[in-house]
Amino acid sequence: MGYNSEFRRSIDNREDFWSEQAKHISWIREPEIIWRPIENGHGEWFADGMLNTCDVALDANIRAGRGDQKALIYDSPVTNSQQSFTYNELRDQVALFAGALQAKGIEKGDRVIIYMPMIPQAAIAMLACARLGAIHSVVFGGFAAHELAVRIEDATPKAVITASCGIEINRVIEYKPLVDKAIEQSRHKPECCVVYARPQAKATLQAGRDYDWDTLMAEATPADPVPVRSTDPLYILYTSGTTGKPKGVVRDNGGHAVALNYSMKLVYDAKPGDVYWAASDVGWVVGHSYIVYAPLFAGCTTILYEGKPVKTPDAGAFWRVIQDHKVNILFTAPTAFRAVRKEDPEADQLQRYDVSSLKRIFLAGERLDPPTYEWLKEHTGLPILDHWWQTETGWAICCNPVGIEMMNTKPGSATVPSPGYNVQVVDSQGNQVAPGEQGQIAVKLPLPPGCLTTVWEDDGRFWNSYLAPIPDFYSSGDGGYVDEDGYVFIMGRTDDVINVAGHRLSTGEMEEVVASHPAIAECCVVGVHDNLKGQIPVGLVLIKDGATIDQDELEEELVEMVRDKIGAIACFRRAIVVDRLPKTRSGKILRRIIRQIADGEEYSVPSTIDDPAILEEISEKLTG
Ligand code: COA
Ligand code: AMP
Repeated sequence: MGYNSEFRRSIDNREDFWSEQAKHISWIREPEIIWRPIENGHGEWFADGMLNTCDVALDANIRAGRGDQKALIYDSPVTNSQQSFTYNELRDQVALFAGALQAKGIEKGDRVIIYMPMIPQAAIAMLACARLGAIHSVVFGGFAAHELAVRIEDATPKAVITASCGIEINRVIEYKPLVDKAIEQSRHKPECCVVYARPQAKATLQAGRDYDWDTLMAEATPADPVPVRSTDPLYILYTSGTTGKPKGVVRDNGGHAVALNYSMKLVYDAKPGDVYWAASDVGWVVGHSYIVYAPLFAGCTTILYEGKPVKTPDAGAFWRVIQDHKVNILFTAPTAFRAVRKEDPEADQLQRYDVSSLKRIFLAGERLDPPTYEWLKEHTGLPILDHWWQTETGWAICCNPVGIEMMNTKPGSATVPSPGYNVQVVDSQGNQVAPGEQGQIAVKLPLPPGCLTTVWEDDGRFWNSYLAPIPDFYSSGDGGYVDEDGYVFIMGRTDDVINVAGHRLSTGEMEEVVASHPAIAECCVVGVHDNLKGQIPVGLVLIKDGATIDQDELEEELVEMVRDKIGAIACFRRAIVVDRLPKTRSGKILRRIIRQIADGEEYSVPSTIDDPAILEEISEKLTG
């Protein structure tokens, strides 16, 4: 069956379509209710099904005879080490750690925060939570203590799992002091904290609260998978919204397993035994979906890479990993290849390695810019496939459906809607715009399985952020257009979310930090174009009357504050002092115009602007 008929069936005959896909995973009780509406197009998938996600990922593969196949390969250039686990070995480690958590009182429905570097224990901890039906919430290791505290307070976890340190290029980052500081800042106090000791740093354990991972494992007995309802939450993953408070995206168990398993065929054409590498971090949705869960659901070998595309040790790092582990499918963010290209423009490093195992390269996380696409295509000769998705959806909304029909690629396009996603480009009333015309990219409800079910403990925010803005649609927050052939082009966010080196960040959150400086009267932060990272934040600040502070000193202090509150990954390095900010007469800051000025784009001066002369001044400061 070709793409068009599969897509049509997924929309016109939704329940039959997903009921068939559900047959490809292992259930404890197969669902009879495929879709149960809740209200206004929102509902629950596989409502009466029972399963265990860890069982689907590990035990089911062992039952299918893959126990001795490699499930996970850890490759760490920063520690110069490698380790692999068969499905049997990974299941045993996960079952034992689940037993250790159980002994500490963790049960179905409890929340567990995982704040870990890219080591196998991060995946083991996630799968162990899933085995118990506990809800994990992984926090990216690059986030500062304050960000961790915000998440601890919102998710109210019973336990936090961490490691003694993470390793960045030539730098060891001690995690335990950050965890201690976060727990101190949070009004909610977890009962226990499990620390995996790495040789590069020693963590101080607090008696009665903190436990050493290895000691708990030595005392534990393995735990069996706990049956959960399809609709029970598997995890919460916080993502940046337009306000300072991140949104806790909630993912269910059943819809997630079915959709991700389907995506491995549809999007990646992956088969059991394939070596699949998503070069991302478990702290992001790419890591959840395509380092940990989906490759295991599909019986592949997944790679967990603790390193960078460059400088660990050089721009040949990715090609080396592909050669060493015979990687078949690679998925990363365009920024990673922009970094490689910058250091190795002629791809000389590629000649040093045998990458003949590689079949396709997938990119997502930000727009795949045509120069990076062309560079990759020219030097590898492989299909280079862009696909578009978000933390909220968990899998590709648009892709080149290679598992059912390879379509021609168009540079700059994420190709076509994945089956299950009725993607439309609409105006703010939900009216479809003509082909080629830009609008908001929205998905007609219902969403397919695997997408967010709500925002943690905040159904109101879920409705207001995603379903209320455009009636009958899921509002993606991205703008773009569909061409005459039905190809979807994503042009960027329509809100205050920016994308820095594939990391999704909120300018609103940075504004809150900057505004808290005692000398700042008002500020705004916008994302401006950056050749390597896609976007970087730039702050425009107004100093309070009477405040006397040197502008360089102020910039240094603001940069430090953002690093301290959000993290170094925000890459906030520029704060420009201005006399006034461009606003509408009603007082709204014209952020889009500021960004357009910074990027050297054409812009039209809105009739509602308070004082057009400000734009000249801003332009001089930004580009001067
Ligand atoms: N823990 C602690 N700090 C971290 C971190 C982590 N897990 N990840 C990044 N940081 C820090 C870095 O050390 C750096 O700190 P510095 O300002 O003190 O030097 C800062 O955050 C910025 O890091 P990074 O974004 O990695 O920038 P870089 O200039 O060091 O490297 C790239 C540039 C393009 C190589 C890098 O951003 C990259 O590999 N990007 C791919 C991103 C990706 O896979 N995203 C996932 C979405 S699919
Ligand atoms: P995240 O939730 O961190 O995965 O970020 C999702 C956002 O990244 C999307 O809303 C887009 O703005 C952007 N994005 C992800 N993939 C693509 C892509 N292939 N093309 C364009 N933008 C993308």
